[in-house]
Amino acid sequence: MERAMFLMYLWAFSTLLFLGGIESSCHDQYWQLRKPPALFIFGDSMFDAGNNNCINTSRTLQANYWPYGESFFNTSTGRATNGRTIPDFISDYAKLPLIPPYLQPDIHDYVYGVNFASIGAGTLVETHPGLVIDLKTQLSNFYKVEKQLRDKLGCEEANTLLSTAVYLFSVGGNDYFAPFQKNTSFFESEYIQKEYTSMVIGNLTNVIQEIYNKGGRKFGFLNLTPLGSLPYIKALKANKTDGCDKDLTEVAKLHNSALSEALQKLESQVTGFKYALHDFFTSVDERSENPSKYGFKEVNMACCGSGPYRGYTRCGSVRKPYELCENPSDFLYFDPFHPTEKAYAQIAKLFWSGKSKITGPYNLKYLFKLDNECRTSLIS
Ligand SMILES: *[C@@H]1O[C@H](CO)[C@@H](O)[C@H](O)[C@H]1NC(C)=O
Ligand SMILES: *[C@@H]1O[C@H](CO)[C@@H](O)[C@H](O)[C@H]1NC(C)=O
Ligand SMILES: *[C@@H]1O[C@H](CO)[C@@H](O)[C@H](O)[C@H]1NC(C)=O
Ligand SMILES: *[C@@H]1O[C@H](CO)[C@@H](O)[C@H](O)[C@H]1NC(C)=O
Ligand SMILES: *[C@@H]1O[C@H](CO)[C@@H](O)[C@H](O)[C@H]1NC(C)=O
Repeated sequence: MERAMFLMYLWAFSTLLFLGGIESSCHDQYWQLRKPPALFIFGDSMFDAGNNNCINTSRTLQANYWPYGESFFNTSTGRATNGRTIPDFISDYAKLPLIPPYLQPDIHDYVYGVNFASIGAGTLVETHPGLVIDLKTQLSNFYKVEKQLRDKLGCEEANTLLSTAVYLFSVGGNDYFAPFQKNTSFFESEYIQKEYTSMVIGNLTNVIQEIYNKGGRKFGFLNLTPLGSLPYIKALKANKTDGCDKDLTEVAKLHNSALSEALQKLESQVTGFKYALHDFFTSVDERSENPSKYGFKEVNMACCGSGPYRGYTRCGSVRKPYELCENPSDFLYFDPFHPTEKAYAQIAKLFWSGKSKITGPYNLKYLFKLDNECRTSLIS
């Protein structure tokens, strides 16, 4: 009797193990046997991994000189921070290699994805024209990659790659900086704020639609940070009021709610469209309000730059003097525009697996796993 009970327990226990085993082997297959979904990256300096090294542009729209990259790569790669960017951490979470820039000369294989982002780029062609790869040109570069994938893999496999891939965006900030740099009163009127944001979001939505038409289904977006409080803007305003520019932060808020609405609309109207939107505004705001909670000592002044808040864009200049902090991980901002690697690591973690309050309606972890469990036909 005791023995029978024991055998029953053993049976139940091993069944559990067996079922657990199926689940975890499924999981292992996904992570080990087949290639993870590809990652295609679009946007601006927060995501550029070196495309601007290869275009004729101004030095302030490049980051291929010391001290950029100092904390991780020990060399400047073109990333506008001291180390890795958000897409670098995401590719790591997704078990992908580092995703290379599209213009890197030795890159001909796109099965893990590729990075089209460009420092200074916006959704509008009028944003830094001739000096950046604007979002429309990034889309044309994506078309070239898409065609090459079809030629190389055949339509069926290329379709699968494109529809399981994740498309990551950080764009919009430069569309607002560019006119502001020319005229700091540009966003004074509410009318201009609304007109302008709807143009920026309209152009972004078009690009999303085009990628969808080529088979893209899973998208990830960062919204805009409180633009008016970047060290660069605080330096511009340093001799006036309290530092921050309220109009610029207001326009960032308008942009963010328009983005959120546009994405909800797409999700409800376009079959199979799924996205992760990270509330970057709130993430940065929280770190600015509670630095020590997140391990920062300085959230107003940049690590690298000159002038008030080290907000003048002279980081790495050979001709003009600049200051460089000793320990970038004490800082929220590495240079007048860009967070440090430490801040990016924290944001990437929230983008990957954050709860719906900060990253929603899905997070990137969910999107990467979606439709991929146990699809043995894809195991290569
Ligand atoms: C790069 O741009 C500068 C200034 O616009 C121009 O003088 C130069 O000829 C350009 N170089 C190339 C290789 O196109
Ligand atoms: C970093 O680069 C410098 C200069 O290229 C070199 O002297 C140094 O050994 C490198 N450090 C590491 C840890 O690779
Ligand atoms: C700056 O923008 C404001 C608001 O749009 C406008 O009234 C003003 O004329 C502009 N100034 C210049 C120099 O263009
Ligand atoms: C896209 O931007 C251009 C300006 O570059 C603007 O004229 C156009 O209306 C925008 N498109 C949409 C759909 O908003
Ligand atoms: C602010 O004032 C300082 C000292 O008067 C001056 O050197 C600097 O150029 C001013 N900055 C701006 C942005 O006007």
